[in-house]
Amino acid sequence: MILDGKKIAAEIRAELREQVQALTQAGQRAPKLVVVIVGNNPASETYVANKIKACQEVGIEAQRIAYATTITEQTLLSEVHRLNSDSSVDGFIVQLPLPDHINESTILSAIDYRKDVDGLTPESMGRAIQGLDAFISATPKGIRELLARYQITTEGKHVVVIGRSNIVGKPMAMLLMQRPYLSLPNMSASSLGDATVTVCHSKTRDLAAICRTADIIIVAAGSPKLLTANMVKDGAVVIDVGINRVDDLTSPRGYRLVGDVDFDNVAPKASFITPVPGGVGPMTIVSLLQNTLQAYNEHSR
Ligand code: GUN
Repeated sequence: MILDGKKIAAEIRAELREQVQALTQAGQRAPKLVVVIVGNNPASETYVANKIKACQEVGIEAQRIAYATTITEQTLLSEVHRLNSDSSVDGFIVQLPLPDHINESTILSAIDYRKDVDGLTPESMGRAIQGLDAFISATPKGIRELLARYQITTEGKHVVVIGRSNIVGKPMAMLLMQRPYLSLPNMSASSLGDATVTVCHSKTRDLAAICRTADIIIVAAGSPKLLTANMVKDGAVVIDVGINRVDDLTSPRGYRLVGDVDFDNVAPKASFITPVPGGVGPMTIVSLLQNTLQAYNEHSR
């Protein structure tokens, strides 16, 4: 069965639109997200355009602030400080990757965790791991929501996460292994969590054997067709986070998007599987919208 992220994301956007409308009809201002983008990485441009469009669709005010690749770290840092103290901004994100001359960690660490709707600052991640109120980064949050909406539970299950990035692998593993803290906001299914989690990466030995013991496999490695049918036990749930551009001269864009899963061969063995595109990607964007509305609600209290 296909885990239809596109459909679920549309449902959530409709819910969000109603919530935002209720606010504005009651005379309150709309929530506001700012997206800072540096340089002209084509994938980043696409992601940012999609985020802005999704905000507009649900009535969240969205502002894109673009800087040339030549911006100094100091200027970008000043921009972060300005956004931290601008009370008309509920949340903001700095799109990654940043140019090499800018230290990503310096920039992220400067973001006030109460506005960190990407959940990527050390403070947000530290708080989340201790079960304190914090924004959860968009991709793991979206996957949690997708599983919840299909009533796929994780309690006691063996989940293999492939990839150890700060943006997906680490927070995903953390959400799955922890006790389902009720203090975590927007927790639509408290049954998520309580899993036994194995985190695999590029140095893992015998990845195939480990994956074959998994009830749920979440692949976030950035490697086309990494997960093949021989690595998946019958009935496993397969979540594909990969968004890889591969050359395709028959496509008008000259490339097409493929995931990290060999979908055609894995799908017949899986009980549930996400497609690429239309699986995790749309869920990631709605998570950012949910976080922005949450920032607004906490901010205006
Ligand atoms: N680059 C790729 N994904 C993301 C994301 O979720 N947030 C930010 N800030 N940058 C990204």
